[in-house]
Amino acid sequence: MKKTILITGGAGFIGSHVVRLFVRQYPEYQIVNLDALTYAGNLENLKDIAQYPNYTFVKADITDEVFIPELFRNYKFDGVIHLAAESHVDRSISDPMAFIRTNVFGTVNLLNAARAAWKEHVEGKRFYHVSTDEVYGALDFDGKLFTEASRYDPHSPYSASKASSDHFVRTYHDTYGMPVVISNCSNNYGANHFPEKLIPLSINNIKNKKPIPIYGKGENVRDWLWVEDHARAIDLIFHRGKSGETYNIGGNNEWTNIDLIRLLCRIMDKKLGRREGESETLITFVKDRSGHDLRYAIDSTKLKTELGWEPSLQFEEGLEKTVDWYLENQDWLERVINGAYRDYYEKQYGHKV
Ligand code: NAD
Ligand code: TYD
Repeated sequence: MKKTILITGGAGFIGSHVVRLFVRQYPEYQIVNLDALTYAGNLENLKDIAQYPNYTFVKADITDEVFIPELFRNYKFDGVIHLAAESHVDRSISDPMAFIRTNVFGTVNLLNAARAAWKEHVEGKRFYHVSTDEVYGALDFDGKLFTEASRYDPHSPYSASKASSDHFVRTYHDTYGMPVVISNCSNNYGANHFPEKLIPLSINNIKNKKPIPIYGKGENVRDWLWVEDHARAIDLIFHRGKSGETYNIGGNNEWTNIDLIRLLCRIMDKKLGRREGESETLITFVKDRSGHDLRYAIDSTKLKTELGWEPSLQFEEGLEKTVDWYLENQDWLERVINGAYRDYYEKQYGHKV
């Protein structure tokens, strides 16, 4: 069936994988990727599908209260998959307002535009809000997992802003009958991950023999999921998830930061022809992040039993694939680090970001 779908934040890490999946898998859909191209947005991530006839890019800010409703009037979207966000915890500690602006205000602005556009015909419409497991706060080392019923308990300005946006999305369902669905996913890894986050930053530093900064003692635990498995889950939930419901998505794959980095060092020693143990000498323990959540771990039973989703890759295999991607795409990494990726938009569209 023909549909016009708005994907926000499609030039970012996860968004670019979601846009690619939808553009390739659903030629009958028109996919509109709306992204403000902040530092985290990189249209080079989508070079391979930029010319597809069912793909359109719109450079805009989700907080724009004039443009966003106008866009909804022009396109008559059947669905929204909302990923645009400020996403880095460390940045949220130094600049919380940017997170409130985009993650809270921007989300509500999109909800308002969708609500106005779908006033007459809400049947068959869907507003999908992509969120994080960080809204649930921190777990102890007691084997417990976050479920959809876990209490919200955010500890960073990032997670507080995502928690707030989740609440607004649910409120629009309960108050106005908006057909919404939410997913809360664990840490993603894979190609096109911006090198301020642990895995791509470490790959880059190992490659260049620079110190690998590990916060505190490296004992914090994250549950890592391959980004393409997240994109597949989003596809399933968008099409088959129940309106008003929440789905947790996780890799069932818990690693302490230090063990993860040791594994990464071993993989990279092999790939780079270094002697075993050489890259581990780069590990440097640095001051801990304030409010650093000890452990995240997701129970994805609902998604697995109700929608039949399963992660496709074991972590060792996924991490090796990720390292291969970064080594084969060193120009992507260099262009992000030296800022040249910002020129890509100008070359494509004739004016500056
Ligand atoms: P990212 O930082 O890589 O990408 C965010 C994208 O949003 C960028 O392209 C950026 O230009 C765009 N953007 C930012 N502010 C905008 C604004 N005001 N208007 C329009 N576009 C704007 O983020 P990501 O890691 O791909 O995360 C995507 C979504 O998934 C976020 O909502 C995040 O909370 C959620 N999430 C991320 C993870 C993870 O591990 N990265 C895990 C679970 C959930
Ligand atoms: P990050 O990739 O920033 O994701 P999040 O904070 O959303 O989980 O960090 C993953 C883990 O790695 C987290 O426990 C913080 C830690 N970390 C470091 O130890 N060193 C670093 O340089 C970074 C960026 C993160």
